[in-house]
Amino acid sequence: MAQGLKVLTAVLPQDVKLETQEYDLGARRWHATGETLPDEELESLKRHDAILLGAIGDPSVPSGVLERGLLLKLRFAFDHFVNLRPSKLFPNTATPLAGRPDIDFVVVREGTEGPYTGNGGSLRTGTPAEVATEVSLNTAYGVERVVRDAYERANARPRKKLTLVHKNNVLVYAGHMWKNIFDKVGQEYPEVTTDYLHVDAATIFFVTQPERFDVIVTDNLFGDILTDLAAAVTGGIGLAASGNINPTGEFPSMFEPVHGSAPDIAGTGKADPTATILSVALLLNHLGYAPQAARIEEAVAADLEARGDAPRSTDEIGDALAARVAG
Ligand code: IPM
Ligand code: MN
Repeated sequence: MAQGLKVLTAVLPQDVKLETQEYDLGARRWHATGETLPDEELESLKRHDAILLGAIGDPSVPSGVLERGLLLKLRFAFDHFVNLRPSKLFPNTATPLAGRPDIDFVVVREGTEGPYTGNGGSLRTGTPAEVATEVSLNTAYGVERVVRDAYERANARPRKKLTLVHKNNVLVYAGHMWKNIFDKVGQEYPEVTTDYLHVDAATIFFVTQPERFDVIVTDNLFGDILTDLAAAVTGGIGLAASGNINPTGEFPSMFEPVHGSAPDIAGTGKADPTATILSVALLLNHLGYAPQAARIEEAVAADLEARGDAPRSTDEIGDALAARVAG
C-alpha cells in the first residue's frame, strides 16, 4: 500500500490535491477488537471517490471471516458487479508463455452473484450424515448488467471480441440463462464478434492460445479461478491488478491486487508491490486520469524490461516506479 500511494502521489499532476484516509481493517484489527467492517466505517468509506484495498487474509484468522466479513461485504455493499481483471504479457517475467505473441485480454468477472452470495447451509453439521449446499444465485438483472458492461468494453477495444465462459453443458439453468442473455444483448453490438467456451476448455486455451482472447465475461467463481490462471501465465500473481467496479457511480469503486497477503513474507520487505501499483493505474483510469494510468503501465513495462537478476525489495521497486512516472 505504501508503494501504491507513493506512485499515485508521484504521477498526479501538481494541481490535483489528493486526500487520503487510512482505514485499519484486516487481521490485526480483528484480533484486537473482533471487528471486521463496522457500519460506521462502511458509511465513511462510501463518501470517497475510490478505495484502494490492501491484500487481506491471515492464517491466524479462521477461513472466511475476513473474506466474507470484509472483502465480500465491501463488494456487495458497494454493488461492485464488474470485477475487472486485465492480463497483459509483461516483458522479462518468468512465465511459461514468454516469447509468445502479444497477450492482452481482460476478464470481466461478475462480482455480486453466483456461489458468492452465501446462499447455502449445512444440516447435521460435522456428522457422517452431513449435507451441505452452496447455491449459485443468478438473476437476469445481474447477468444482463455485467454482460452489457463487457460488450461495452469489447466494443471500445480494437479487436472487438467477446467470449462468454460458463459451463452450460452441465449447469443447464444458470448456463442457459447466461447464454440467452449474452446472445440477446449481443444484438445491440453488431460489431462485436462473440464466442462461447466451457470453463474447462477455456483453461486449456489460456495456456495454449491465450492470444485468442480479448474480453471475457464470466460468472463470479469461474472468474476467480480463471484470473489466477491468467496471472500465472502472463507474468505471475505479483503483477495482477483488479478493479471492483460499480459502473453506475452510485458507490465508490475499489481497486486491489488479485493476490493474497502473503503472510509468510509479511514484514520482510520482499513482497512485489507491482500488482498494487497497477491497481492504482486502474483506479486512475476509472476516475478519468487515463494519461496518468498509462504512465504507470508504461513505467511497469520499462521497469521489468530493465531489471536485472538481483532480487529487489518492496521499497526499491516502489521507488523505481515512482521515479519513472515522475520523470
Ligand atoms: C479474489 C480472492 C477473493 C475471491 C477471496 C479472498 C474472497 O480470491 O479476489 O480473487 O474469491 O474473490
Ligand atoms: Mn481469487
